[in-house]
Amino acid sequence: MSLRLVAGSAHPALAAGVARALGIEPAPGRLERYPDGEIRPTLPELRGDDVYALQSLGAPVAANVIELLLLLDACRRAGAARVTALVPYLAYARQDRREQPGEALGIHVIAEAIAGAGADRIVVVDPHTPALEAMFRIPVETVSAAGALAAAARAGLPRDLVIVAPDLGAVRLAERYAALLDAPVAIVRKTRVSATRVRADQVAGEVAGRMAVIVDDMISTGGTIEAAMRALAAAGAAPRARVIATHAVFAESAAARLAALPIERLIVSDTVPAPATGPPLEVCAISGLLGEVVARLHRDRPLEPAPVTV
Ligand code: R5P
Repeated sequence: MSLRLVAGSAHPALAAGVARALGIEPAPGRLERYPDGEIRPTLPELRGDDVYALQSLGAPVAANVIELLLLLDACRRAGAARVTALVPYLAYARQDRREQPGEALGIHVIAEAIAGAGADRIVVVDPHTPALEAMFRIPVETVSAAGALAAAARAGLPRDLVIVAPDLGAVRLAERYAALLDAPVAIVRKTRVSATRVRADQVAGEVAGRMAVIVDDMISTGGTIEAAMRALAAAGAAPRARVIATHAVFAESAAARLAALPIERLIVSDTVPAPATGPPLEVCAISGLLGEVVARLHRDRPLEPAPVTV
């Protein structure tokens, strides 16, 4: 089976980086856009190939999801022997449970659509929920950018340091960073008031006088980081903090919100295109990591020990 990379239109720079890391060219394709908003991707023949369809699901989320589904179907119909959805940022992963009657289970719908469109398996980077595997009927390969992001964050860190999970969902991730950076963990108790507003009122763990490194899977509106920083300041943490997040989604006024905070360094990966405006960001490229993952999967090699190449 020949290795082929099919690139969606969501993140051309990342696609180019992954192709470079693999030493191949993306399969030549075409994307037509109809006046009514429909899209129509066309791929070359992929008969018997091992195909990796790369599409990150940042904004515009709905259009990027539809394009991924059409690409997966096109791969199948072009004769691919095996199709892997390579989805660095998987949108809808926050909708992993129903908060109240009448809601949809968003990630389950997306998982069914991806499998139904023809993916044999999916690769995701730092997904929001560890419950993801249970949502998919195809294998889920999870990759973490934490090793690369921690390495980038390490320079100049003081001894008195604390890794902060800005909510309960981030505790596992915080423990991973704590192991990488050899620091204790503190947890902020967060309550979500609405899609754009959160409240953080309690901090568990020793933060007084320490520099906080707040870690999260994603920054959307920036509300979680803002609330965590307020709670940390009230608990006596050092005034300036570092922030690490895998997915820099930066919706709405996130850029302005974060620019107003005393953040010493803001380190993200490039699973989604970097926002055009906002506070200075340090962006860690993950194309090397994804290239290594694809190369291992293509050869049916294990993903552990995890590659940390960036
Ligand atoms: C939620 O649990 C996630 O891990 C993030 O904390 C959250 O999605 C960030 O969203 P926002 O930046 O809008 O607060």
